[in-house]
Amino acid sequence: MNSEKANVKRVLITGATSGIGFSATIQLCELGHTVVFTARNEEKGEKTLKAVKSLLPCANVSYCVLDLDSFESVEQATVELVKLHEFSPFDVMILNAAVMLPPESQTIYGLDSTFQVNFLTHYFLALKLVKAKPEGHHLHIVCLSSVLLKLFDGFPWRIPKNEMKFERLFSPKEKSGWKSYALSKFALAAFSETLNLEENVSAVAVNPGNSMTSVSRHMSLKRKRLFKIFKSSLIPVEDAARNVIRAALQTIPSGHYLDKEKIVALPRPVTDHQSQKHLINMSEKILDRIISSRISEKSATL
Ligand SMILES: NC(=O)c1ccc[n+]([C@@H]2O[C@H](COP(=O)([O-])OP(=O)(O)OC[C@H]3O[C@@H](n4cnc5c(N)ncnc54)[C@H](OP(=O)(O)O)[C@@H]3O)[C@@H](O)[C@H]2O)c1
Repeated sequence: MNSEKANVKRVLITGATSGIGFSATIQLCELGHTVVFTARNEEKGEKTLKAVKSLLPCANVSYCVLDLDSFESVEQATVELVKLHEFSPFDVMILNAAVMLPPESQTIYGLDSTFQVNFLTHYFLALKLVKAKPEGHHLHIVCLSSVLLKLFDGFPWRIPKNEMKFERLFSPKEKSGWKSYALSKFALAAFSETLNLEENVSAVAVNPGNSMTSVSRHMSLKRKRLFKIFKSSLIPVEDAARNVIRAALQTIPSGHYLDKEKIVALPRPVTDHQSQKHLINMSEKILDRIISSRISEKSATL
């Protein structure tokens, strides 16, 4: 095989219609990789496709509609992406789409909005693609995390050992606020560790670095002003995307993540096997509930 061709990756990235995902798509295309990105709807998908093509007319890029608020959309997109994956497998999958401080605290499934969008739907999609990959094919999965991961290292937040308390921590509250966002990023990092145990799968969490993107659109003005005071900690979106690409194109030893451009040890609660087990059990229970209620809804309409 031509060695240049062997280095060309097929990359799937969620939520590339703005910010880090958009910039990562451009940079991956510039490097000659093939990119399939996801967009909430066709309008956003077409607009993004046009924007990429106007910068890079020869880019090998396409999109799939995936609305993470709706399980119907997640199931449809999963079927479509699994078909693509079986035909021409993805080498890299980047779980990037996310929401922060959404106005609606709960989804129609009674879940914390941030938990569903940032974590659970990605969990569902990633495991389907892992299962569908051709035998012997290697899949590398990048989970977008955050600097907030560090807040679970005993202070100010703890991850309970007790399973019921663990599930309560992720349950919807009056607001899907900062803690929900941090928990979704904790869950993605812990998920990356469990994915590492799958055959022919590697996974890594990455904190891309703080950058002014539309993820902060629901942040209060007061908080945004505070952010500006700490302007020196902000990096350009292109640099944050470059950190994501670093995580996408290299494997990192289990128990570690990419904190911007540095490989560092994951906080202990993320690598704790009991927490990982609680996370998987909880996610499977919730997905079973959603899927069975969707099946009974469908059969009631027949
Ligand atoms: N920016 C930072 O400082 C920072 C720091 C650490 C980690 N991160 C992480 O980096 C990743 C990218 O964030 P960003 O800063 O680039 O934010 P962004 O510009 O808001 O991008 C988020 C992407 O996710 C998509 N998305 C959100 N909710 C969705 C839904 N329900 N269904 C489908 N797509 C949805 C958005 O699509 P729409 O435009 O349709 O909403 C958008 O394409 C996130 O995982 C974020 O947590 C960011």
